[in-house]
Amino acid sequence: MDEQHIVESLRPVLHPKFKKSLVDLGLIRNVSIQDGIVSLTLALKSDTSPLKNILMGEIKKVVGALPEVSSVLVKVVALSKEESARLFPKAPLKGIEKVKHFLAVASGKGGVGKTTIAVNVALALVEKGYKVGLLDADVYGPSVPLMLDIREAVDQENNMIIPIDKYGMRIMSLGMTAGQNDAFIWRGPLVTKILHQMLDQVKWGELDYLVIDLPPGTGDPSITIAKALPKCSILMITTPQEVALADVRRSISLFNKTGHSIVGLVENMSYFLCGHTEQPIEIFGKGGGKRLSEEANIPLIGTIPLDLALGQGGDSGVPLMVSAPHSTTGVVFQEIAKNIAVRQQ
Ligand SMILES: Nc1ncnc2c1ncn2[C@@H]1O[C@H](COP(=O)(O)OP(=O)(O)O)[C@@H](O)[C@H]1O
Ligand SMILES: [Mg+2]
Repeated sequence: MDEQHIVESLRPVLHPKFKKSLVDLGLIRNVSIQDGIVSLTLALKSDTSPLKNILMGEIKKVVGALPEVSSVLVKVVALSKEESARLFPKAPLKGIEKVKHFLAVASGKGGVGKTTIAVNVALALVEKGYKVGLLDADVYGPSVPLMLDIREAVDQENNMIIPIDKYGMRIMSLGMTAGQNDAFIWRGPLVTKILHQMLDQVKWGELDYLVIDLPPGTGDPSITIAKALPKCSILMITTPQEVALADVRRSISLFNKTGHSIVGLVENMSYFLCGHTEQPIEIFGKGGGKRLSEEANIPLIGTIPLDLALGQGGDSGVPLMVSAPHSTTGVVFQEIAKNIAVRQQ
């Protein structure tokens, strides 16, 4: 009985996920035998892998059944990142194979108008003649179905979810699969899984832009999307108030760390055009977006007024870029879309 024998005896033991021999995958290492005691190392993606106990059990059974073997010691180690990437290359996400550009709309906190802007920027891109998809990735409060008045449930075809077509774009939201009034209390690993599904198993088809409405902040969903889409550009939304600015700084620093390009900053609810005077009224303070843009070196590509029609568009299900694309605010959205398109050629 020598090391080679032991390795051969383990060749039929398969990795349950990849259906390939542990030996052929190079996961069995440092095999030695001394006085009937076999020791070996099993390398796995992580040393807390749920496969650990199953595989250790199988290895002990197979090797322990060999003549002259009295006991089997298995040490589990974690593969290095490089080894892991080489041995287990990630399958490309099927649903987004034909998507040219990704644009995630992010903010430091909620209620700053992120969804309103994601929806209207997506529609402004449609108006420019692009093929556009809109993914509502706000797992904690998907509001795209409400804003676009989408009530139908999504269909499936060959295990792929078919996004809903409305206003010339393809739309998918978790709010379309679960009941709209359900509470969304996803935990970390589930968030990652469900967002991957939104990219992998939704038939987005050929798109120039997939616009993604991220939940606010720097939690699991933002990190998942950032990791899954290394080429995604970020559109950062803020309001002029300092609190929003502090939150948005944290969010900017997350995307700087992950190496994503922030295509621009949009300041929302910047001013109020009241109709009685030409003068814009700066309700929430002045110049916050501009200061942040200079400080973080991100171009300020739009300032959106506080506009009752824009808010009502969200409530009625007919967004402003559908009902009044040529209004003052509509033109601001068109400018933002133009800026994005120019920067993403
Ligand atoms: N510029 C604006 N003028 C008027 N109402 C706005 C404006 N931006 C957002 N709103 C309203 O503010 C509320 C919050 O906007 P929403 O887009 O849902 O924010 P978020 O996605 O960041 O939580 C909505 O009722 C929306 O209609
Ligand atoms: Mg929102």
